[in-house]
Amino acid sequence: MTDISLFGSKSRQLAGLDISSSSIKLVELSNGDRGGLRVERFVIEALPREAVVDGNIANFDAVTEGVSRTLRRAGSGLRNVAIALPASAVFTKKIILPAGLREMDMEMQVESEAAQYIPFALEEVNLDFQVIGPTGSPDEVEVLVAASRKEKVEDRVGAVEACGLKAVVVDIESLALEAAFELVARQLPGASSDGKLVALVDIGAAVTNFSVLRNGQRLYAREQAFGGKQLTQDIARQYGMSPDEAEAAKRSGGLPEDYAVDLLQPFMDSLALEVSRALQFFFTSTQYNEIDYLVLAGGCAVIPGLATVVGARTQVKTIVANPFANMSVTAKSGAKKLLAEAPSLMVACGLALRRFDA
Ligand SMILES: Nc1ncnc2c1ncn2[C@@H]1O[C@H](COP(=O)(O)OP(=O)(O)OP(=O)(O)O)[C@@H](O)[C@H]1O
Ligand SMILES: [Mg+2]
Repeated sequence: MTDISLFGSKSRQLAGLDISSSSIKLVELSNGDRGGLRVERFVIEALPREAVVDGNIANFDAVTEGVSRTLRRAGSGLRNVAIALPASAVFTKKIILPAGLREMDMEMQVESEAAQYIPFALEEVNLDFQVIGPTGSPDEVEVLVAASRKEKVEDRVGAVEACGLKAVVVDIESLALEAAFELVARQLPGASSDGKLVALVDIGAAVTNFSVLRNGQRLYAREQAFGGKQLTQDIARQYGMSPDEAEAAKRSGGLPEDYAVDLLQPFMDSLALEVSRALQFFFTSTQYNEIDYLVLAGGCAVIPGLATVVGARTQVKTIVANPFANMSVTAKSGAKKLLAEAPSLMVACGLALRRFDA
């Protein structure tokens, strides 16, 4: 197949590096005490606007400068990273293959299946696959096939290589998010989340990803053009700031008193409305008519009180994701800051978990 693997090989030393539209986020985990995990380091480094647009690297130099700053802040010793492509850049499809195929035969089968549904020539894509598990019948296995345009993979791999790093895993953001969600599932109230329907809402800068999971399996996914950029624009307009100033003021909390009532509250209300609309779409387009929990993630989930507003509007138990809840933290990393930023580090955390894949 191709030389760059979409799922990649396993490596012992590996940090998760999430390059997205608002920032670059890095998380490194290690084995902690008593079988738990430890957060070794994490960094959130802002990217200038227009560096990453619609999941594509639009300004290569701005991204490599951002990665370099991230590395300087992370300290020395980092070499291998796991990165991710946005779901929009990757075609995925689950296929059924006979059980017990040799690796080479499986590759051939995957290629011929992929050729049927990928809208590009196979020479133009990176193709990879992962056996998900048995289908219920002993003679078959379910296989996840992923294909991405080579240039999308090469852009991201090239950006980290330009900074002296090696991308040993190229994952998909939505899969990394779901990997981190497995840690969050344990936080859900009640004895067990087995069989429960959980809506995971990742609210970023430009995009909100809404997905419904049961037992870690995705039942439904939808993307909405909604995010924190809207609030940033409101702040810029109201207080006559540049977008970058508005973004910084929003994060550091240095805004006039009327901000909370005039801008923040209406933004939280419209966000809650978006979530309840997404739920309605889910109900009308599937056989389901209720869900058990809502889990908020992404940078906007950091806003204090958001879970209460969303919970009140949707009438669903709502929590904010903290994938690090059961981890120890090395003192240098700053446990308090980690707690505050935890929901925005879901993808980076899911990528960092790749180090422990069996
Ligand atoms: N403390 C905070 N208070 C309010 N909003 C915040 C805070 N921290 C981050 N945000 C907002 O969260 C958004 C960024 O979220 P996140 O880092 O999840 O996005 P992203 O993954 O870079 O973007 P996208 O997924 O849209 O490409 C920005 O709009 C940012 O302003
Ligand atoms: Mg994001």
